[in-house]
Amino acid sequence: MNQLSRIFRVAGCMCQRNAMTAEKVLLDGKRFLVTGGSSGIGAEVARTLALWGAHVMIACRSEEKGKAVLKRILAHRPDATVTILSDADTSDLDSMQILSEKIVSMDDGRGLDGLILNAGIAGRPYERSRQGYELHVATNVLGHHLLVRKLLLKIARSDKLKVVYVTGDIYVLAGDCKLN
Ligand SMILES: NC(=O)c1ccc[n+]([C@@H]2O[C@H](COP(=O)([O-])OP(=O)(O)OC[C@H]3O[C@@H](n4cnc5c(N)ncnc54)[C@H](OP(=O)(O)O)[C@@H]3O)[C@@H](O)[C@H]2O)c1
Repeated sequence: MNQLSRIFRVAGCMCQRNAMTAEKVLLDGKRFLVTGGSSGIGAEVARTLALWGAHVMIACRSEEKGKAVLKRILAHRPDATVTILSDADTSDLDSMQILSEKIVSMDDGRGLDGLILNAGIAGRPYERSRQGYELHVATNVLGHHLLVRKLLLKIARSDKLKVVYVTGDIYVLAGDCKLN
C-alpha cells in the first residue's frame, strides 16, 4: 500500500474512532498542500500529515478556522510545520490564481510532494460562482483544476508530485469521465 492511501485509511479511522490505528509513516521533509483543510476530512488529513513530519500547507477560506486546526495540531506535535493559507476559495478562479502565486513565491526549489484536493460541497441549491459557473462544479472541479495546472507549470515536478482528488463514490456514475 502506498503512503498516501495508508494516510487516508488512517484519517478515516481517526475520524471514526479519534485514535491512530495504523503504523506511523515517516514524511519528514515532504511538503503537502491540503485544500479545505479547515474542517472535516481535510483537517484530519492535514493533522495526520503534520504529525508524521510533513510540512503541511492548509488552504482554507477562513483564517480563524485554519488557526483552530493549527492549534489542534500543535497540541499533538509542538514542532509541527504548518502554514495557513487563508482566503483560498476554490470556487473563485481569481482566488486560486492568487493561491498558486503564493505557493510559488514560498517555494525554495524543492516543489511539492502532494496536493490533496479536498475542498468540496454537495447538495446545495443552484447557485453561481463569482465567475458565473455552477457552484459545485466551480468549487469541486474548476478551481482545483486551475490550481493543479498552475502548480504543475511552475513548481511541482510531475515525476514526484502525487495529486489526490477527494470525492464520493458518485463518480462511478460518470462512465466516460476523463481527467480533463
Ligand atoms: N464525508 C462524506 O461522507 C463525503 C462523501 C462524499 C464526498 N465527500 C467529499 O470529501 C471532501 C471533504 O468532505 P467533508 O466531509 O470533510 O466535508 P466538510 O466537513 O463539509 O468540509 C468541507 C471542507 O471544504 C471546504 N470548502 C467548501 N467550499 C469551499 C470553497 N469554496 N473554497 C474553499 N474551501 C471550501 C470547507 O471549508 P469551510 O470550513 O470554510 O466551510 C471545509 O473545510 C469534500 O470534497 C466532499 O465533497 C465527503
